Amino acid sequence: MKRGSVTVVCRCNDVTEEEIAKAIEMGVDDFELLRRYLRLGFGPCQGRSCIMVAARIFSRATGKSMDEVLSNYRIRPPILPVPAKYFVRGVER
Ligand code: FES
Repeated sequence: MKRGSVTVVCRCNDVTEEEIAKAIEMGVDDFELLRRYLRLGFGPCQGRSCIMVAARIFSRATGKSMDEVLSNYRIRPPILPVPAKYFVRGVER
């Protein structure tokens, strides 16, 4: 028996390549909309693992260039995880 393979693109939110393809098929034609619809990049890693992979899949499926796909994508601070202790007064660092 042959099993189908599943490619997980966003490990934080369990988003698969198939779900991305299905969303594009349904008419999602903007990468930012795709991100919000599937919550790509909304996990603890903030998209460090999945955004470029998802953007590449979206680019290939829609024929849009990577520049066009990522034109509305903004990286929001903090760029790297910051321990909560740095935001609390009175705690020795
Ligand atoms: S892998 Fe997608 S947000 Fe972490």
